[in-house]
Amino acid sequence: MQNIILVEHPLLKHSLSILRDKNTDTETFRHHAAIVSQMIILEVCRDCKLIEKKIETPVRDTTGYEICRSMIFVPVLRAGISMLISVRDFLPWIPIGFIGLERDEKTAIAHQYYEKFPQDIEEKLIVVLDPMLATGGSASDSIRRLRKKGKNIALACIVAAPEGIKRIHSEYPDLKIYTGAIDDCLDERKFIVPGLGDFGDRYFGT
Ligand code: PRP
Ligand code: URA
Repeated sequence: MQNIILVEHPLLKHSLSILRDKNTDTETFRHHAAIVSQMIILEVCRDCKLIEKKIETPVRDTTGYEICRSMIFVPVLRAGISMLISVRDFLPWIPIGFIGLERDEKTAIAHQYYEKFPQDIEEKLIVVLDPMLATGGSASDSIRRLRKKGKNIALACIVAAPEGIKRIHSEYPDLKIYTGAIDDCLDERKFIVPGLGDFGDRYFGT
């Protein structure tokens, strides 16, 4: 599949299996959600440009690199916060926007309750963080809003359903989706199968 980046690593598979296990407690869930998120964000950053600069080591001059800071992250509330928290150590300077969306439990249609973005993001890579891509309704809505602010958008999730990937790529064929897993399908409640259940509820202990 084009523009879908499946992040593969034995440690990711290990942590994701712990997230999937229905007996995993909140503390352990948070711990492994952070590990998986970090690996996915590292992959998002693989395309980041580096700026060369001269530095002095204690021994001699050499060429060093600084990451080009032209990115912003936009976690989709609530569950996207989990991915944001896990990257604060290695991208502490990153500007952050927020979109608040909640799926209606009966219709699975997302409604928006909050939106706030940093200024001047037109030229930046906007990375939407949302661990679950199910029907794609939440991601589609988020991307539609963000496209008014900038055109260079990517989506980082932990588990994606084929239905969600298909929807996003039918609307935005060039948009890159980074994910830790592509699952089988959605069930009648529009939950990802096998998935990991309700990510937000499990992460926040709701
Ligand atoms: C979950 C998840 C996504 C959305 C995915 O959020 O975090 O945002 O569902 O489903 P979709 O692709 O069918 O739109 P939810 O609405 O449960 O809210 P929460 O983050 O507050 O738990
Ligand atoms: N949101 C979740 O948290 N889990 C799913 O399986 C689908 C949407």
